Amino acid sequence: MDKNIKILAIESSCDETAASVVEDGVNVLSNVIYSQIDIHTEYGGVVPEIASRAHMEKINPVVDKSIKDAGICPDDLDAVAVTFGPGLVGSLLVGVSFAKAYAYALGLPLIGVNHISGHICANYIEHPGLKPPYGCLVVSGGHTHLVRVADYGVYEVIGRTMDDAAGEAFDKVARAIGLGYPGGPKIQKAAQSGNPSAIDFPRGKIEGSPYDFSFSGLKSAVLNYLNGLNMKGQEYNRADVAASFQACVVEMLVSRARLAIREFGFKDFAIAGGVSSNSAFRSAMEDMCKEEGVAFYKPSPVLCTDNAAMIGAAAYHEYIKGNFSGLDLNAVPGLKLA
Ligand code: KG4
Ligand code: ZN
Repeated sequence: MDKNIKILAIESSCDETAASVVEDGVNVLSNVIYSQIDIHTEYGGVVPEIASRAHMEKINPVVDKSIKDAGICPDDLDAVAVTFGPGLVGSLLVGVSFAKAYAYALGLPLIGVNHISGHICANYIEHPGLKPPYGCLVVSGGHTHLVRVADYGVYEVIGRTMDDAAGEAFDKVARAIGLGYPGGPKIQKAAQSGNPSAIDFPRGKIEGSPYDFSFSGLKSAVLNYLNGLNMKGQEYNRADVAASFQACVVEMLVSRARLAIREFGFKDFAIAGGVSSNSAFRSAMEDMCKEEGVAFYKPSPVLCTDNAAMIGAAAYHEYIKGNFSGLDLNAVPGLKLA
């Protein structure tokens, strides 16, 4: 390709309204993220109707800012990319409708991107040397997938959660110990002053499915622990609960990744998704990969949680394959990775 490809990418699948201009899938010219956290905190979680309305209010200014920050004009763009699933339908629809109108008005090709693929592709931004095939553990608020990345945008799911996603477990436990929303970063902070070995929570395993995950048993174990103390009129140590819970999740994630590395012979292994911004998880994965003699890749924390730069990175590989979407692109809330 003789010219630099500039893609405007839009992400609105949950509670972040985000737009980014990415050049050649790796140069992030702008990365604008409007987080609705403050709006949803009051309710203890994301309220879909409120999220959708907030996206509608913010999408125009967020996209305008992404173009301005990139120092380009809309005419310099080569394509418009947008997350079309999975996610909340009312949230996805705002981004999808906006992207379709924008692409149509400028006569640009449209590229629908899978949000989970976007999370994985966030790794290419800072590690252009990372090339398929490799293994990846995607851990977010809605998804926990152990994946073999066969090629750019081509995935084989090795394992997945049978119930809650890892991030969901963080959010639910945070609520139970009075930390509020969003749970992940708050548990990480509380855990810093706690003892990760204080409470021995169960490391959930699924009989006959060594690569699958289950977090609902752990969540129940934490709730039972809290109730047990409560009934005896005893106080719990919040930092110890946070640290022990976090250690348990990290161990469950890292052990499956280690098994997959051994079984599939990966030489490179990456992490992705909101939970992969967790410092305990990042360092445990780093140590494990070192022990296994595997190169380890992780996006910067800001590229782990929802953003549009990752959508631009994923879209670039679809662009070079000529994989474009029609203007009949629709939101697919339950879109699968593979
Ligand atoms: O990838 P993401 O931004 O959105 C989804 O696609 O779901 O992930 C959000 C999830 C939330 O559950 C949040 O609590 C979790 O990622 N998270 C974390 C941390 N930062 C965000 N979990 C653990 N530790 C963190 N530092
Ligand atoms: Zn996400």
